[in-house]
Amino acid sequence: MPEKNEAKIINLEQAVEIKSSELDKIKVKGGNPLNGKIKISGAKNSALKLMCASLLTAKPIQIENMPVNLRDIKTLAILLRHLGVTLAMREDGVCILRAGNIKSTCAPYDLVRKMRASVLVLGPLLSRFGYAKVSLPGGCAIGSRPVDAHIKGLEAMGADISIEEGYIIANAPNGLKGCTYKSPVVSVGATENIMMAATLAKGTTILENAAQEPEISDLGNMLIKMGAKIEGLGTNTIKITGVPVLSGATHSVLPDRIEAGTWAIAAIMTDGNVELENIKKDTLGSLEEKLIEAGAEIEKSDNSIKVRRKTKNIKAVDITTMPHPGFPTDLQAQFMSMMTLADGTSTTKETIFENRFMHVPELNRMGANISVSGNTATIQGTKSLKGAEVMATDLRASVALVLAGMMAEGETIINRIYHLERGYEQIVKKLGACGIDIEKVNIANQKEDNNNASKNKDSCINL
Ligand code: UD1
Repeated sequence: MPEKNEAKIINLEQAVEIKSSELDKIKVKGGNPLNGKIKISGAKNSALKLMCASLLTAKPIQIENMPVNLRDIKTLAILLRHLGVTLAMREDGVCILRAGNIKSTCAPYDLVRKMRASVLVLGPLLSRFGYAKVSLPGGCAIGSRPVDAHIKGLEAMGADISIEEGYIIANAPNGLKGCTYKSPVVSVGATENIMMAATLAKGTTILENAAQEPEISDLGNMLIKMGAKIEGLGTNTIKITGVPVLSGATHSVLPDRIEAGTWAIAAIMTDGNVELENIKKDTLGSLEEKLIEAGAEIEKSDNSIKVRRKTKNIKAVDITTMPHPGFPTDLQAQFMSMMTLADGTSTTKETIFENRFMHVPELNRMGANISVSGNTATIQGTKSLKGAEVMATDLRASVALVLAGMMAEGETIINRIYHLERGYEQIVKKLGACGIDIEKVNIANQKEDNNNASKNKDSCINL
């Protein structure tokens, strides 16, 4: 039993098992506006990297505002424990990690395949211990997603890397050396892996063509608290001067801009009125101007943003996904869901991932009118959507279907909601509290669905 005033420690293995049914569904009845306040969680895509950064030091790292209820967080926690990190995840959103006694520098396939971000242990392990063996994450539903830019960057720092039997085997027995590396692609993960590795390298690393996402700056800021020397965060050139050793730190995860953007879109779609709490004025980023174009009214204060629709109808707005500060690919499906109900025709161009329109056929099954040609979808707005049984294919596509369900006539059943649990904390509770008729249906024991699930299992469940 936890002591008085002490937040309960989460039993990770048990939590993942309990939540891991691939058969559970979400049922949404459309027609209610999203009205109320939603507390935005810490950003998954930052929290994961902050956890990996704990491998860079033997001292304790305390991470606060952690989205502890996400499956991806638990999956990474299990991998870190496998490596020897002592880790306590508390229900109050605090996670304490200590990599003082690392037992293994090998991240096995079984753990990496569950979540691609696991490859982010490569840079820290190699840099601190001179050796790492990390499974290649493989492709996934939205694209092939190679990690060549991560590998080339570490090679440029002097690592000897080979691929054997599906594993990245990296050696740098005398430590990594600073260098100038221009990434062939703007990659969030490669920027983070190389930046972490460079903190303990000898000399200075200049990382060109770096990604500029806020989550990278969040990671960089925690590394600086740990004693790293980093300049240029949030720009496309990051300079890291290696130090011999890093210390512990306490850091709070930045708010999840994708979660905030998702509920902002939901408020406009349903003609609701939502106050997003625990966020910063700039959290919505480039989405903000697109929301205003679509008809939103946005009011910002120090740690909350109010969003509602100002216009009678939703206006048709074109978007093109781009690396930050451009329109985020992680909000593309949700924005498209909104455009299905817009007054007129809009286009959505996806330039980051080659196969990120898997939500299109599902939205069309609900009465949307979307056609795809190459990397561009054309969305002819329609007056209404109709509830249907649909299939979630990846994290953001799944939530786009929940949004469509919130607007559809009748009932929408979303299958494979385990995707949602990877990235949206307490979705049913949060939306239910704001007036949405939504429930989780646990049908894990239904034999028929069990058979279907094993037949149709997709190649990976991660993003
Ligand atoms: C991260 C986010 C993901 C988001 C994506 C783009 C996490 C855990 N995930 O993923 O939610 O959608 O950024 O904003 O933070 N690429 C290569 N070679 C590489 C690396 C990437 O060709 O070595 C390509 C990818 O296939 C993709 C593009 O570069 O087409 C961008 O990928 P990247 O920025 O690396 O995405 P992730 O870090 O995997």
